[in-house]
This record gives sequence, structure tokens and C-alpha cells, in this order.
Amino acid sequence: MTVNTPFDAMFSGVIGQDYQMLKLICPFATEMSRLVGEAVGEYCRQTTEPVGVVELGGGTGITTLSILSSDDRLSVLSVDNEPTMQNQAKQNLRHWLDAGRLVFCGDDALTALRSLASESVDILASAYTLHNFERDYRKQVIGEMFRVLKPGGWFVNGDRYALDDISAHTRGTQQEVKGYFKVLTGINRIDLLEHWIIHLFNDESENHIMREATALQQLAEAGFKLIELKQRMDVNALVTAVK
Ligand SMILES: C[S@@+](CC[C@H](N)C(=O)[O-])C[C@H]1O[C@@H](n2cnc3c(N)ncnc32)[C@H](O)[C@@H]1O
Repeated sequence: MTVNTPFDAMFSGVIGQDYQMLKLICPFATEMSRLVGEAVGEYCRQTTEPVGVVELGGGTGITTLSILSSDDRLSVLSVDNEPTMQNQAKQNLRHWLDAGRLVFCGDDALTALRSLASESVDILASAYTLHNFERDYRKQVIGEMFRVLKPGGWFVNGDRYALDDISAHTRGTQQEVKGYFKVLTGINRIDLLEHWIIHLFNDESENHIMREATALQQLAEAGFKLIELKQRMDVNALVTAVK
């Protein structure tokens, strides 16, 4: 966050401190983490080898927990460059850290991926992180994800995938905003409401919005195959692809 971009690092403030409130205003968020874990488990059932997962934007650990719980043989490198979020994950997931199945990295996603060897990772998993990236940065991240994945490795992402039908997407987002007001004014959290609305403007801005067709095409251009949008829940969807 700088004077010129005072709202960029939105997860460092009230949103990050009260991140657990997200499940009240976006019930799909918890479900999406569950679906990411389920997809990771599906991959694991197809192999007898240990599975290495890199998670981008681990946040407070909701998705990380779902991934870790999906199979005993997997280990996770969880990347998040926002200490307000990652420190909560370190607390919440102490047990997994102590068991040696979880390592944290505080770098940003692109830097973390660039430090990994080519064809060294089985699964690249994420939830509600890639949509926060600026368009060009996201393109570079996807290129790096492809590079670090082993042949046959999976990309699993549960995220905000904007509808290609722009009017339908706007209606969906309007409904979402209506829900924010209903829930957060109901519990008198106007401060949080303000921050989530400001955050949403970032998500919806032209240089960030992750529209379905463009996003799937971007994966194809990076070299991914078997690209599937498996579940859609309003403006949210689970996307998987294979290297
Ligand atoms: C909405 S949270 C999602 C957390 C978790 N996956 C979940 O679903 O609850 C997005 C996370 O991505 C992180 N993040 C955003 N941009 C990032 C970047 N460039 N590199 C690494 N992490 C980033 C934020 O700090 C935040 O913790």
C-alpha cells in the first residue's frame, strides 16, 4: 500500500484481520475451498507416489486445510505475501507445520514460482487469489505455473470467474453487494462493508477482472490441456487443467 495506491494491499487491513467474516457474506468461499481439496484428493487417488502441492494465496489457511486433509501423502508449500493473513494460517495450521507436511513462503506468487525448479510440482492449487492479480501479472504467473508443474500435473483453482455475459455478471455482482449490505449492516460492521466494497471495485476493474472465456484461453495459450470449468456458483467457479 502506498500513497498513490492506498487500497492495493486490501488483505493487510480490516479485511485481513476479520477474514473469517467472509463466510457470512460469501458462503461459496468456504464451499470453493472444499471443492479445491476434493479435486486435489482426486489427483492423489490416481498415484501411489507422494504428492507435492504449491498453493498460491493460502490466506488464513481455509483452503490449505482442505488440501492437507484430502490425502495423507501430500505436502504443501503455501505462498502468501500478506503477513496479516499468513500469520493466522501459521497459528491455525500449527499441527500440520509440526508434522512437516506444510511449509510457508511469504513471497509474492510470481517470485515464489520463479524460485522453483521446472517440472517439480504435482499440483498448483489456489482459491480466491488469482482474481486479485493485475492482468499482466496473472499471465506471467500462469506461465510460471505451467513451467513448474510436472507433465501430467494439475492446476486447480476455485475463484471469481466473471461471467462472459457481462449483464448477467453485473446482476450477479449487484446481488452480491446487496448481500454484503444486508449481513454487515445487520451486525453493525460498516467498517468491513466499506472495505469489501472498495475491494470489489478492484476485482471488477478492467485490468483485474478474470472473465471466464479469457481465463480459459489464457490457460490454453500457456500450454494446458483438458481445461474444464467444473462448477459454477454465481460469479464463482472451479477450474481445473492438466499440463
Ligand atoms: C481472498 S484470500 C484467499 C485465501 C484462501 N485461499 C481462502 O480461500 O480463504 C486471497 C489471498 O491471496 C493473497 N495474495 C494476493 N495477491 C498475492 C500475490 N501476488 N502473491 C501471493 N499472495 C497473494 C492475499 O494476501 C490473500 O491472503
